[in-house]
Amino acid sequence: MKILVLNASPRPDGNTAKMTAAFCEEAQKHGHNAVCLNVCRMNIKGCLACEYCHGKGQGACVQKDDMQTVYSQLKDTEMLVLASPIYYHGITGQLKCVIDRFYSALYPTAPKCLKKIAMFLSSGDDDMYTGAKFSYDGDFVGYLGLEGCGIFTNHDKDVLEKIREMAASL
Ligand SMILES: Cc1cc2nc3c(=O)[nH]c(=O)nc-3n(C[C@H](O)[C@H](O)[C@H](O)COP(=O)(O)O)c2cc1C
Repeated sequence: MKILVLNASPRPDGNTAKMTAAFCEEAQKHGHNAVCLNVCRMNIKGCLACEYCHGKGQGACVQKDDMQTVYSQLKDTEMLVLASPIYYHGITGQLKCVIDRFYSALYPTAPKCLKKIAMFLSSGDDDMYTGAKFSYDGDFVGYLGLEGCGIFTNHDKDVLEKIREMAASL
C-alpha cells in the first residue's frame, strides 16, 4: 500500500519524529511504500480561497509552491498519516496550511485510491487533543469517509509499540 506520512514537527528528534519513524520502518518491513514528508521543511502557503481549483484549474491549485510535491504524492496514496505536535490546542500551523490546501485535491471528494487515515499527536499535557481529534473525525473519517486506523499520542502507554502494531496490521 502507498502511504503518505506528513510530519509536522519542526523538531528532528522530537516525539512526532519518533512516532513517524517507527511507523514508516514497520510499514516498510511489511511491504508497504511509506513516503514521509517533513512539511515544516517545506515552503507551503495557506489557501487563498480563490476557487481557481474548482473552476478554471480543474482540481489544480493556483499556487505553485512545495504543496505540488504533496499533491503529486497524494495522487496514488491509499493511506494518509497526519503527525503533529499540539500547538495552542491544535495541530501546527504548517500542517493546517497543508490541510487547507487539500481543498483542491480532497474536496468535494478524495481520490478513489485514498481509503485510510491515522493521526499521531504529541503534546506537553495529556488533555490537549480535542481540536486535532475534531478535525480527524469530522473532516477525514466523517466527511471523506476514510477508514480511521487510530489516533496515537505521546501520552499513550507504549505508543511506539502500538504504532508498530497498527502498521503491521495494515
Ligand atoms: C508554539 C508551541 C505551542 C505549544 N502549545 C502547547 C499546548 O497548547 N498544549 C500542550 O500541551 N503543549 C504545547 N506545546 C508543547 C508541545 O506540544 C510538546 O512539546 C510536544 O511534545 C512537541 O512535539 P514534538 O516533540 O513532536 O515536536 C507547545 C509547544 C510550542 C513550541
